[in-house]
Amino acid sequence: MPIKVCVFDAYGTLFDVAAAARIAAAEPGHEALAAIWPRLAEDWRTKQLQYTWLRAVMGEHADFWQVTQDGLDWAMEAQGLSDPDVRARLLALYRELAAYPEVPDMLAHLKSDGFATAILSNGSPDMLDAAVASAGIGGNLDAVLSVESVGVFKPHPSVYCLVTDHFGCERAEVLFVSSNGWDAAAAAAYGFTTVWANRKGEPVDRLTAEPDYMVSDLTTVPELAKR
Ligand code: LAC
Repeated sequence: MPIKVCVFDAYGTLFDVAAAARIAAAEPGHEALAAIWPRLAEDWRTKQLQYTWLRAVMGEHADFWQVTQDGLDWAMEAQGLSDPDVRARLLALYRELAAYPEVPDMLAHLKSDGFATAILSNGSPDMLDAAVASAGIGGNLDAVLSVESVGVFKPHPSVYCLVTDHFGCERAEVLFVSSNGWDAAAAAAYGFTTVWANRKGEPVDRLTAEPDYMVSDLTTVPELAKR
């Protein structure tokens, strides 16, 4: 079945999640952060994702902005950082993350080839609106779908169902792209054709399904959509 809709995870896939810590670390007055920012960025992301999975299993949903703050608080404490100005700056930067360099042209290419395009993300609608606006990619997205409409995080199947419901399409007509191996695996298990943007060169996750394609960035997505 030919692909009709190309759907992207947001954080880490379209938007550079390490950018907030990297940019803040280079600013004057943030010397303590400069010394440890890669570890802080890694811990922040790890805890943020763990909290989404744990909250989904516990049936205790809170939106992604809350979970993002909770992950940052854990990561800052682990590094002995307690400066409220640093915390506020990191969170402000998280709301306006840059897109990876290949993203704008890749989305424009998909649109000119006639594909529908969308984001499907854990992000809350206001976070996603802010990130899409600051990256300037809204003109090439047909929909921005948030887990908030089902009140549970990925990889719950009801999240992936938002795509087929919104576009009125078959699962096999969706190309789903994520930089998170677990997200690509869950989307494959749901029945989407999947692309894992394996930006860090990690091993394949041992879950129930594997992604159809593995790439190192998003440049070739338009080519894969036409296969
Ligand atoms: C998202 C997270 C998983 O955007 O990166 O859904």
